[in-house]
Amino acid sequence: MDAVLRPTLEPLRPADVRTERDALEQLYFAAFSPPPYVESRAEAQAFGALAQRDAQRPGYVAYVARAATPERTPIGLVYGYQTPSSPPGGDWWDRLLAAVEREGAERWILGQFAFCWFAVVPEAQGMGIGGALYDAVMRHVATPRAWLVTHGDPSPARAMYDRRGWREIARAELGWVPGERAVMGLERGSAPAPRSLPS
Ligand SMILES: CC(C)(COP(=O)(O)OP(=O)(O)OC[C@H]1O[C@@H](n2cnc3c(N)ncnc32)[C@H](O)[C@@H]1OP(=O)(O)O)[C@@H](O)C(=O)NCCC(=O)NCCS
Repeated sequence: MDAVLRPTLEPLRPADVRTERDALEQLYFAAFSPPPYVESRAEAQAFGALAQRDAQRPGYVAYVARAATPERTPIGLVYGYQTPSSPPGGDWWDRLLAAVEREGAERWILGQFAFCWFAVVPEAQGMGIGGALYDAVMRHVATPRAWLVTHGDPSPARAMYDRRGWREIARAELGWVPGERAVMGLERGSAPAPRSLPS
């Protein structure tokens, strides 16, 4: 428990994503298997592949929280990157861009910061780790706006985004498992100042 109470928070390099892929998939599964996501090991493996690909994207920034144990197990993760200014291909991107429509895509998505994946293992949630990870990655955002996709049902993550100035801009089926997702956008100038890291 003490290991969880005193985690270290540090940047996650692209090379770490490759070498620690199994541990990151386990973290993902622990965070996204409970409701409202109810994802399986298959989605966790898909996440591992995506995380490794995303780590090569321009503007990639990632932080990990590690347990204070000899293994330094990842217990929290956040990453994002700068969305290309021309639409990336693929079914998921097509559905996203259709949901926000052309004007929304130009304003909120293309060329803006994608706040991609954000997770803390359930036993460490509610202790400030997620908030510290969020602040760490958002300090790097240099674009006027940022966007994310989250579950359409109420969740601690959604409440957190609402409190930090994000607003819903569209809804669509954008998850790996069925269920509506909310696309949210943040005007950086309107965001509350980041809080300090927990000691
Ligand atoms: C979202 C998530 C990463 C937050 O991590 P965390 O370590 O619990 O975050 P914190 O302890 O810093 O809490 C963040 C905020 O949520 C609140 N919170 C945390 N757990 C909560 C809970 N179970 N119920 C209600 N609020 C909660 C905190 O009070 C805090 O409030 P603040 O906005 O005033 O700072 C974590 O809940 C998670 O992994 N959820 C499952 C995966 C997920 O939904 N990811 C986001 C997908 S877009």
